Amino acid sequence: MKVLLINGSPRSDGNTARALAEMCRVFEKNGIETKLFWVGTKDVRGCVGCGNCASLGKCVFDDIVNEISAELRDADGLVVGSPVYYASPNGTVLSLMDRLFFSAHYSMAMKVGAAVVVARRAGTTATFDVLNKYFTISGMPVASSTYWNDAFGGSPGEAEQDVEGMQTMVNLAENMTFLMKSIALGKKEYGIPKNEKRFMNFIRPEGNVKAIKAVKAVKSAPAQALNKVLHRGKKAGKEEQS
Ligand SMILES: Cc1cc2nc3c(=O)[nH]c(=O)nc-3n(C[C@H](O)[C@H](O)[C@H](O)COP(=O)(O)O)c2cc1C
Repeated sequence: MKVLLINGSPRSDGNTARALAEMCRVFEKNGIETKLFWVGTKDVRGCVGCGNCASLGKCVFDDIVNEISAELRDADGLVVGSPVYYASPNGTVLSLMDRLFFSAHYSMAMKVGAAVVVARRAGTTATFDVLNKYFTISGMPVASSTYWNDAFGGSPGEAEQDVEGMQTMVNLAENMTFLMKSIALGKKEYGIPKNEKRFMNFIRPEGNVKAIKAVKAVKSAPAQALNKVLHRGKKAGKEEQS
């Protein structure tokens, strides 16, 4: 059983590193293999939306993103640690996550995800939300703790004094271990759930004609259109009663 940890901070011994180290200690105690990727000073460029990953199965920019992607394929969990920059994950983490999740053409379903965020003072929950969205669009169950997964500290190491923050990391790693182990058992017993995979933009050619007509009707005669809708509602109600 293996978990990958990404540290997006440019400070190798910073507060994100301390939070992740706390988790690693628990994983190792629980017999979970860990692999840490420190990406904070790497030149991780953003996604250019070229779509070549669809045929290549990996990103056209062959850097740390592809390295992590290859490791993640067989991993059971992923922890993404980011410092809070302007109430968001830092730029390196965002670029990495966009490219990692867009280019990986294997299923991430049932790999357990966890975001860990560290700030001097504010913006942790907004940052946490951003990172969790990569997991929840990918069929990845999200591990939770006894608080949102944040720790507070400004200069390197300060977060260690955030006793509750460090406790959150310990509990997160314990809960994540339990989830990964439970999912491994569940996979054996039930397999991975089969999900429907229909993909659709909001542009619907056949539905558009009707929708445009309806909007036009409302714009030109809002009162009549409203009446029509209300009338339709009443009629439907009567039909239901009868
Ligand atoms: C560009 C930049 C933006 C930052 N923005 C925030 C912020 O919005 N909120 C906050 O509390 N701290 C902010 N910080 C402080 C860091 O989040 C804080 O120092 C944190 O401990 C850094 O984690 P690290 O030691 O792992 O690098 C910012 C720091 C930098 C360099």
